[in-house]
Amino acid sequence: MRNIRRIMMVLVVLGLFVSAVGVSAQGGEGLTIGFSQIGSESAWRTAFTNAVQAEAAERGINLLFSDAQQEQENQIAAMQAWIAQGDVDAIILAPVITSGWDVVLQEAQDSGIPVVIVDRDVDADPSLYVTRVSSDFVHEGRLAAAWLVQATSGNCNVVELYGTVGSAAAEDRATGFREVIGLFANMEIIRSETGNFVRTEGKQVMESFLSAEDPANICAVFAHNDDMAIGAIEAIKEAGLVPAEDILVVSVDAIPDIFNSLDAGEANATVELSPFMGGPAFDAVVAYLNGEELPKWIPVGGGLYTSRAAYDAEH
Ligand code: AHR
Repeated sequence: MRNIRRIMMVLVVLGLFVSAVGVSAQGGEGLTIGFSQIGSESAWRTAFTNAVQAEAAERGINLLFSDAQQEQENQIAAMQAWIAQGDVDAIILAPVITSGWDVVLQEAQDSGIPVVIVDRDVDADPSLYVTRVSSDFVHEGRLAAAWLVQATSGNCNVVELYGTVGSAAAEDRATGFREVIGLFANMEIIRSETGNFVRTEGKQVMESFLSAEDPANICAVFAHNDDMAIGAIEAIKEAGLVPAEDILVVSVDAIPDIFNSLDAGEANATVELSPFMGGPAFDAVVAYLNGEELPKWIPVGGGLYTSRAAYDAEH
């Protein structure tokens, strides 16, 4: 009874979250903007890159694209080159990890180049950047946990496929997930290891979980992204188990491949992370250059889906 009351409470709280998806306006024609992207570790990341590039082309923005291949030092080097050459009107930064940005952000500010953070967060002083366009990763973790709590009536041993250690996407999803399952005595994370948001690594880590644990003791896998979930599904099947039945699968991103898995009955739920942050980020640059004051966070929302039809109905 107490569990049911708690589940209701969690669901009500989550329902109160109203997401503000940035409404995209046109603007920015003729601007040159540097975009420092993390890499291409996941299908979501590639969709995000494509969406930013398409939005820039549509607006007539000259986008200088730099792929950091998961290395923060590559991101800093690209930004410092743009700053030194003085050939950009603004920089958009998708930071791989949270810490270590103060110096380069200060350099950009000293050179009068505004920086907009997209996707993952930084722990630098907010006065060093214009704004951050992103989803609420803590909320994503809470949503995934709330779905699992109601699916298992608050009784579940979870294995966690962690994203990149030190990244806001991983750390915050982990926080939100733990916040909700912590309300239930019989919900526990029994194993957690990073798969770096990569499908093949997700599979390898899941294989190691399945050999280290009695599989009957694993009720669910919470993957910090869909690619790792898809890797885990492969591992579960190869172990002779039925994904989404013997082991529940919940993850984040809402990429096309996970809808194939959901519709095939091999995954259970995904939390949407919109890749369409380029529009609000360009709007922020234009507004800043026009002298407007901006909030330090421009949230991009997303729901939880258990089928392609449910997703399509809302998009
Ligand atoms: O920062 C967002 C995360 O990065 C996505 O959830 C994941 O797929 C990507 O690698």
